[in-house]
Amino acid sequence: MLIARTIDELQEAKKALSGSIGFVPTMGALHHGHLSLIRQARDENEHLIVSIFVNPTQFLEGEDLDAYPRKDEADIKICELAKVDILFMPSVETMYEKDELCIGAPAVCGYVLEGKMRPGHFDGMLQIVMKLLNLSAASNAYFGKKDAQQLALIIQMVKNYFMDVNIIPCEIVRDDRGLALSSRNVYLKGDENERALCLSHSLKRATKLVMSGTLNVEKIKKEMHTVLQDVDSIEYIAIVDRDFKRLEEVEVGNTIILLAAWVGKPRLIDNLWI
Ligand code: PAJ
Repeated sequence: MLIARTIDELQEAKKALSGSIGFVPTMGALHHGHLSLIRQARDENEHLIVSIFVNPTQFLEGEDLDAYPRKDEADIKICELAKVDILFMPSVETMYEKDELCIGAPAVCGYVLEGKMRPGHFDGMLQIVMKLLNLSAASNAYFGKKDAQQLALIIQMVKNYFMDVNIIPCEIVRDDRGLALSSRNVYLKGDENERALCLSHSLKRATKLVMSGTLNVEKIKKEMHTVLQDVDSIEYIAIVDRDFKRLEEVEVGNTIILLAAWVGKPRLIDNLWI
């Protein structure tokens, strides 16, 4: 495995590749969620590039940029074992100039839910993903459904800017108790680990309701609220279609149920595609 830290090193390393390139961008502190994307990309492409870059422009003032878990050594080992060809680990100076042209998130999907709670987050995320997709020149790039709104915006960016890459959505990986894996789960302390489970429990309750014929969004949200009693605060529960427009009734095959809640220090998100 080659580790590239500069653009020149990355371009040089890429010269040795011929054939399809799979690309998995990450912010590191790799867990089995990341690994499932990496494995799928490994299986479906001749070559595999992974990036690790904690992108400052997608963190808001007061968020956990400085405290974001960094585990470079362990991450390098994991990538080696996963047979990554090139691991791209640039510095902030490598990725950004002082005064840059930016792209903005679109009005509908960009400014609801995560976009509303974290204004500017998606602009920074799209900025870095555009850069990374261009640099990797990937045939296929892999993103998790865990960040459903991020995924939808990346698909839209690729479409709107006629970018030549397939975006491959990947399933959410959970631990055996149902908690969606996240680099921020390391912040959960003591009983918060148990309390965090009610996010996935509330999504399970929603599934049961839909399966028994309850499609009314307000009814489902009310039930989810009762299951979410163990979190410290609920930021939102939303039931939207795949374009992130609010629904009154669940449309099976076209619905995403999303929630964000605080449990101790971390803000957790989870979702379910119905
Ligand atoms: P990060 O949070 O490190 O996640 C990298 C990729 O892993 C994203 O596509 C995310 O959706 C996916 N992922 C995380 N947890 C997952 C899980 N439990 N199951 C399945 N996939 C999971 O998302 C980012 O980084 C950044 O915003 C990035 C796209 C790298 C741009 O900076």
